[in-house]
Amino acid sequence: MYDVVISGTGLYTPANSISNDELVHSFNTYVAQFNAENAAAIEAGQVQALTESSAAFIEKASGIKSRFVMDKDGILDPQRMKPRLPERSNDEWSILCQMGVAAAEQALQRAGKTAADIDGVIVACSNLQRAYPAISIEIQSALGVQGFGFDMNVACSSATFGIQTAYNSIKLGQARALLVISPEICTAHLNFRDRDSHFIFGDAATAVVVERADLATSEHQFDVVSTKLLTTFSNNIRNNFGFLNRTAEEGEGTPDKLFVQEGRKVFRDVCPMVAELVGTHLQENSLNVGDVKRFWLHQANLSMNHLIVKKLLGRDASVEEAPVILDSYANTSSAGSVIAFHKYQDDLPSGALGVLSSFGAGYSIGSVILRRK
Ligand SMILES: CC(C)(COP(=O)(O)OP(=O)(O)OC[C@H]1O[C@@H](n2cnc3c(N)ncnc32)[C@H](O)[C@@H]1OP(=O)(O)O)[C@@H](O)C(=O)NCCC(=O)NCCS
Repeated sequence: MYDVVISGTGLYTPANSISNDELVHSFNTYVAQFNAENAAAIEAGQVQALTESSAAFIEKASGIKSRFVMDKDGILDPQRMKPRLPERSNDEWSILCQMGVAAAEQALQRAGKTAADIDGVIVACSNLQRAYPAISIEIQSALGVQGFGFDMNVACSSATFGIQTAYNSIKLGQARALLVISPEICTAHLNFRDRDSHFIFGDAATAVVVERADLATSEHQFDVVSTKLLTTFSNNIRNNFGFLNRTAEEGEGTPDKLFVQEGRKVFRDVCPMVAELVGTHLQENSLNVGDVKRFWLHQANLSMNHLIVKKLLGRDASVEEAPVILDSYANTSSAGSVIAFHKYQDDLPSGALGVLSSFGAGYSIGSVILRRK
């Protein structure tokens, strides 16, 4: 058995960002057009009028102020309301590969490693753009990594589940170092015509180098103290898109083939589960929650994160203890907690404890206890 560290992290942030005001303007233009086109039917009670969205509501309900996106124009066009990401030939890198490679290169650089030091690539994310070949194998080839690659999907918890998978392989001596990469184009599965959720998601990619401790040389090392995962089935976050859709024509193009959630129920169910899992995980490792210097939490909703840390600490957390990136990134699914980790780790002193925790559809929850080298 080998000791395991995270020795480098990387982040790819798309060039364009959409503010709440821009998003709401596009949504409300769509609402005005819909209501005008359906005025007679609305008047006759046959069609329900749509209601406007509000930037003030979005920020108050979620903490989100803006989001980075792979295509701004397509999303903001009221006639389209979805990103336009043109098909690429099979000879070009796929878009998920391109994002993943950019994040991976930064993670390798921070880890002080090259592709020759890596034995495999795990792509862990919510939405894979094709069935096969695996995106991970494409990234493996693009980086020039020898070894193996596979894709896995545990929705918003994909990265922590991927880190546990990498940790186990490295602990067992099956690999010296693995890359866990989370490319997320969440805007492509978001229904921008749904007032309840049109503001939720953004796009980004992260990468983490998980490595055998005795081989690691970087200044950015964190011991992986322990990992713990939990899943409980729920339909409260669901997306019915899949390869069987074409076999049931009656359901093609209906809203359930995109992201759908019961946001309030998710909030209510998930907060206590996360606090319980992280608290138990720390106890099992004979660690006090009061000694945790940083919580890098999944970035879906600011109040949710406040509540979770309050349940754990018995008091409000400072922004240093529970850093926020969802204000400018929105929910980037599995990438979110890793973005927080990537951006808010260098100031921690040697020996400082931190917890990386994700939560989301499934339900799925991951907890990774880390100690700064
Ligand atoms: C999605 C979320 C931000 C919504 O916030 P909320 O406070 O639960 O809001 P609700 O959906 O209950 O709506 C509250 C009110 O705002 C209104 N509202 C909803 N969307 C609105 C919008 N875009 N603009 C203005 N008002 C809106 C609703 O109609 C409702 O009005 P009412 O009280 O008159 O009925 C929040 O539930 C959330 O983030 N939940 C957790 C989600 C999560 O973690 N998911 C994981 C995904 S991976």
